[in-house]
Amino acid sequence: MLYIGVDLGTSAVKLLLMDSQGKIVNVVSREYPLYFPHPGWSEQNPEDWYEQTVAGIRELVRGVDRSQVAGISFGGQMHGLVILDETDAVIRPAILWNDGRTTEETEYLNTVVGREKLSAYTANIAFAGFTAPKILWVKKHEPEHFARIAKIMLPKDYIAYRLTGVHCTDVSDASGMLLFDVKNRRWSKEMCEICGVRESQLGRCYESYETVGTLLPDVAAVLGLQESVKVAAGAGDNAAAAVGTGTVGDNRCNISLGTSGTIFISSRHFGVDRFNALHSFAHADGSYHLMGCMLSAASCNKWWMDDILGTQAYGEEQAQIGKLGENHVFFLPYLMGERSPHNNPNARATFIGMTMDTTRADMTQAVLEGVAFALRDSLEVAKELGISLARTKICGGGAKSPLWKKIIANVLNLKVDVIESEEGPAMGGAMLAAVACGEYADVEEIASKVVKVVDTVEPEPELVEKYNARYARFKEIYPACKQVFDVLSAI
Ligand code: XUL
Repeated sequence: MLYIGVDLGTSAVKLLLMDSQGKIVNVVSREYPLYFPHPGWSEQNPEDWYEQTVAGIRELVRGVDRSQVAGISFGGQMHGLVILDETDAVIRPAILWNDGRTTEETEYLNTVVGREKLSAYTANIAFAGFTAPKILWVKKHEPEHFARIAKIMLPKDYIAYRLTGVHCTDVSDASGMLLFDVKNRRWSKEMCEICGVRESQLGRCYESYETVGTLLPDVAAVLGLQESVKVAAGAGDNAAAAVGTGTVGDNRCNISLGTSGTIFISSRHFGVDRFNALHSFAHADGSYHLMGCMLSAASCNKWWMDDILGTQAYGEEQAQIGKLGENHVFFLPYLMGERSPHNNPNARATFIGMTMDTTRADMTQAVLEGVAFALRDSLEVAKELGISLARTKICGGGAKSPLWKKIIANVLNLKVDVIESEEGPAMGGAMLAAVACGEYADVEEIASKVVKVVDTVEPEPELVEKYNARYARFKEIYPACKQVFDVLSAI
C-alpha cells in the first residue's frame, strides 16, 4: 500500500509518498505566500494551504497506481490560529506560530492568571506564539471576528477538515494551544474559561496515529483517490519530524533545522521543567516530549544568503569558511524575536564583534554558529533537569549542510546521526498514516523498522573545548543587549 505525508510548513507544503516498507516513492513541494502585515506579525491564508495541498497531492500520485493509496496524515506548523464562522468560512487570515503581536496577552496570562496556574492546567506557560494568547488578541482587537467564531483550528487540522469534513486535532498539536491538559491528554476546562472559549468550538482530540475519517466524495474525485482513503489526525510538525527520524520512546533527541529550530526530547513519562523554559507536550507515539523552540533557524541562513548576500550558492559560501571554533564574530539569531529560552518577542538579531579584517565568510560562519549556540541554550535547560543525551538525529532544510551538522555536533557536544532522508515531518506524517491503516502495530514499531541511520557526525574533543569557550561569550551577549532590544521595539 502507499501512504501520503503532508508537511504543512511555513514557506511551503511538502508532500511525500511512502510505500509499506518505508521507501520514499516521490516527494513534491509547493510554496505559498507568507504575509508580514506589520513588523513582527506573521499570517497566511488557509485557502492557499488547501489549494497547494490538493495540487501537490495530485502531482505526487501522478503515474502511480492510485488505488494503492490507503492513508494520508500530517505534520503541521504548530500554534497557528485558524477561525471559522458558522458556515465554516475562514473569518480572518491565520495568525502563525512566529507572530509576535501578543506581548500584552502573554504577559496577562503569565502574570495576572499566573505561571503556576497555567503550568498546573496545561504543563506550560504562555509564549507569544501559542494559540491562547492569539485568541485573547482577537477578542480584544477584533471583537466582531471573535463574536463570529464557531470553530477554532490549527493549520493542519484545517486541511484534515477540508479533506474529511471532520473537525478534529491531535494531542501533540493541541499541546501547543495552551488550552490542553497535556498530562491527561484532554482539553483544560479552566483554560477554556480563561480564554472565553467553549469546548464545542475546539475539535475532538485524537492520538496522532488514529483515523479521523475518510475522504469526502468530491475531494476524492478531485484527487483521483478512493473515498476509502483514511485520514489520520497527524501531529505538530516537530512531533511528526520526531516520528520521521525515529525519535520515539525514551530519552531520544531530534534537532530540526527548518524555518524554526527545535530540540525535541522524547520521554515515556510526563515531565515539566521548573521554569517552563522548555515546552512540555504530548508526543505522537502516545507518550510525551520536552522541546525548546527557536523562531528563526535555517531562516537566518536563508535571510543572510538570499536577502543580504543575494546568492543562492549556499555551498560555495560555506566552502570559504576557514577554521571552526575561532571566529571573532557572533550572531544572535533573533530575527523574529525569540521563544526558547528567552520568551521575548522584542529580541532582535545582531552581529557583534566585527573588526576591519572581518570577512564575508566570518559572518556566514557566525550565522551558522549563532543558531547552534541558541539551540544549545535549550539543551542546557534540559541538562539542568538531569537529562543526559549522547546523540541526536537531525532533519529539516538546514540539515542538508555537512558544515552546519559539524558545527552543531561540536557546539552541542552530541553525536549527530544522519538518517536516509531529512524529510522529517512529511515522513512522520506518512508513517502515522501507515499505523492508522494497520500496516504497523504502533509508532515505535514502524520507527524501528523504517528509519535508517546512514552516517554519524562525531564531535571532536578539541573543537568542543573551543566551542565551550565561545558559547560562554555568546551567553553574555543577549543579557547585555536586552534593554536595547526593548527600546528598539518600542520605536
Ligand atoms: C514549535 C513551533 C515551530 C513551528 C514551525 O513550537 O512553533 O516549530 O511548529 O512550523
